[in-house]
Amino acid sequence: MNTIDISAETTDIIRTDRANVWHHLTPHNNLKTTDPLIIKSGIGMRVTDIKGNEYLDATSGGVWSVNVGYGREKIANAVRDQLMEMCYFANSAGSIPGALFAEKLLTKIPEMGAGKGKVYYSNSGSEANEKAYKMVRQLAHINGDGRKHKVIFRDRDYHGTTIAALSSSGHSQRKEQYGPFTPGFSEFSHCCCYRCPFGKTYGSCDIECAKDLETAILREGPDTVGSVVLEPITAGGGVIPPVPEYFPIIQEICKKYDVLLHIDEVVCGLGRTGKWFGFQHYGVSPDMVTMAKGLASGYAAISCTITTDAVFDQFALEDSGELGYFRDISTFGGCTAGPAAGLANVAIIEEENLLDNVVQMGNHLDQRLLELKDKYTVVGDVRGKGLFAGVELVQDRQSKQPIHESYAMKIVTHCMQQGVLIGRTNRSFQDFNNTLCLSPALIATRRDIDDIVDAIDNALATNSL
Ligand SMILES: Cc1ncc(COP(=O)(O)O)c(C=O)c1O
Repeated sequence: MNTIDISAETTDIIRTDRANVWHHLTPHNNLKTTDPLIIKSGIGMRVTDIKGNEYLDATSGGVWSVNVGYGREKIANAVRDQLMEMCYFANSAGSIPGALFAEKLLTKIPEMGAGKGKVYYSNSGSEANEKAYKMVRQLAHINGDGRKHKVIFRDRDYHGTTIAALSSSGHSQRKEQYGPFTPGFSEFSHCCCYRCPFGKTYGSCDIECAKDLETAILREGPDTVGSVVLEPITAGGGVIPPVPEYFPIIQEICKKYDVLLHIDEVVCGLGRTGKWFGFQHYGVSPDMVTMAKGLASGYAAISCTITTDAVFDQFALEDSGELGYFRDISTFGGCTAGPAAGLANVAIIEEENLLDNVVQMGNHLDQRLLELKDKYTVVGDVRGKGLFAGVELVQDRQSKQPIHESYAMKIVTHCMQQGVLIGRTNRSFQDFNNTLCLSPALIATRRDIDDIVDAIDNALATNSL
């Protein structure tokens, strides 16, 4: 890392930013003593800040989004060409990239009926999830008296920032001070074996964490529960993959109680785990899938709520004299930049065989992180799949007492000082902000992975407890 530019122009931009921009998740006190980080450019796996410091980015843009890496001309050109041809029209009408991208996406999800689902466009992950919840609520009215509208969600999962999406999220600390929450959402247990909520050990347990869904449905009343929403691998809650038996049990319970299975692929979707979608590791067929971040790798704001035709067709109501459609609109669901960027993004993943790269580099990442576990007792658990990993830090292996958040912050800062950006669980759960999060772009090389893990290794060696 080399600080170079403190020219008058740079100082001016920093002053302008500080005076006018309200940064996400940034304590006000930090900006009194530290300049805001202003990222000026990016190419491949690397970004450069306005002062000239270069970083190897193991976060894909801070929040696991830039799946194909920075500076992709193919995407920029596709967006430019599309905007000059036709930039926007409300999505009650169609667009050429909108039609083509929907078709392309559905070919990647044969589990949803061999490409026979429907794609509903909006702008963010939160919004895509809200659309799914609204669909569930409207279906409850179409098919009955509106009672079967509740959504069951999981402790440690996150589904978004808007009030209903936050109401359906199991991040207790992130929810603090934002109540009252929307009624109609109810929680069941997480599936983190390292901290089993039932005090069991995998191998001798009965997958109680999955069966807890049935308990939640029975508690709420099966005639009131419309869907269950789950991340395939919990992301911001600490990178938690389920055991192989988990999702088939969830699917069985959904079938038993006529509850829609909604998988939130906002983080895992588009190759992050080595398959197009995270749930495809686990042998299930969802009724609804939501996605955002990696959908266009951050080159345009786009999200999708995808449903099976079995769900879509229920809105038709042809013979009833009712309206017969999902009564919802989002202005920017009609922007064509999103699907144009999405098409180019998917083409890159295909042309460069990035799913294969994720599997290979993911194995290397896993192996290197396990070496850290052997080396440092502070590393309690290493979890993940593909280029998506969590390193949970503990004070002591025996008690699994989580390390203090300030220590995890120190490790992140020390990596940054070495020119490597990594993430961590961030004010999600009181006392459990102790997991380092890694999600490099799908183009990462062996050398990149080694540089990332070496930086963490140095940080752990330097910052002893
Ligand atoms: C799993 C998951 N779902 C939904 C969201 C919300 O997406 P957005 O921030 O685009 O609204 C996030 C954001 O981090 C997420 O991690």
